Amino acid sequence: MTDKYAVIGNPIAHSKSPQIHSEFARQTNQDMIYEAILAPLDGFEKAVGDLIAQGYKGANVTVPFKFEAFNTCNSLSASAMAMGSKAVNTLSFFTNSTIHGDNTDGIGLRRDIEQNIGVTIEKKHILILGAGGAAYGVMSSLAGASSITIANRTYEKALQLVMEIKDCEAKASTFESLEKPYDLIINATSTGLTDTVLPISDIIFSKNCLAYDMMYGRETHFMKQAHAAGAKVADGLGMLVEQAAEAFYIWRGVRPETAPVIKMLRNL
Ligand code: ATR
Repeated sequence: MTDKYAVIGNPIAHSKSPQIHSEFARQTNQDMIYEAILAPLDGFEKAVGDLIAQGYKGANVTVPFKFEAFNTCNSLSASAMAMGSKAVNTLSFFTNSTIHGDNTDGIGLRRDIEQNIGVTIEKKHILILGAGGAAYGVMSSLAGASSITIANRTYEKALQLVMEIKDCEAKASTFESLEKPYDLIINATSTGLTDTVLPISDIIFSKNCLAYDMMYGRETHFMKQAHAAGAKVADGLGMLVEQAAEAFYIWRGVRPETAPVIKMLRNL
């Protein structure tokens, strides 16, 4: 029988997840379908209940439902609980009424940076721009870093996130007071959606710096500034495919090849 999966979000029309998972399924000969489901903003729980009633095996969860998804689960992986993020992007439904939640965003980011781009996290001085859901979601993937600085428009939220970091030097900052170069800078703000210019100095980008924007689909102002300042620049398309591959592995127990899928999406 064909197994059914979906991604739930709002908006969802532009999601690339159905294409990515269909390609993974084709590549690994899995008998499954994967659809995009638009849930009303107050209708996430009902959408999950409907999928379970229709025999779906699992679902990915995207904006704005990742926190609600956490609360819907009655079983959680360590990745979903790491760093106090309380966010889930992968649900697995079992016949004994278990709804198991994972968060594959962190592992997706780390695999993209280390395996696809070839930059190691270990012993690096890392700057995260933003302290919202996206920032929380990836913090657990930065184990082994020498230091992590969190800069955010709302300084108090940067401080809060810094308090979750236990295993390396950690510091909160405003954008304006950043004044030294970093090895890796991750833009986890939502400013790419609105083309907002972040008040950050060119000083933070060194020649050997990787400037990574979690957004994909367009060159953000952050990416333009980093490029002009001499940094190596990447968008979040690789992370999108890698987090999907990890979800696919959780559901199907097989690892798809990500490189051809990233290439296919870049060429569209
Ligand atoms: P997400 O789940 O995408 O992270 P979020 O939790 O709403 O969404 O977080 C958005 C992040 O982008 C926050 O760090 C936010 O800063 P504040 O905490 O000060 O709100 C940041 N952000 C959004 N719009 C911004 C802007 N115009 N300038 C600077 N930062 C902005």
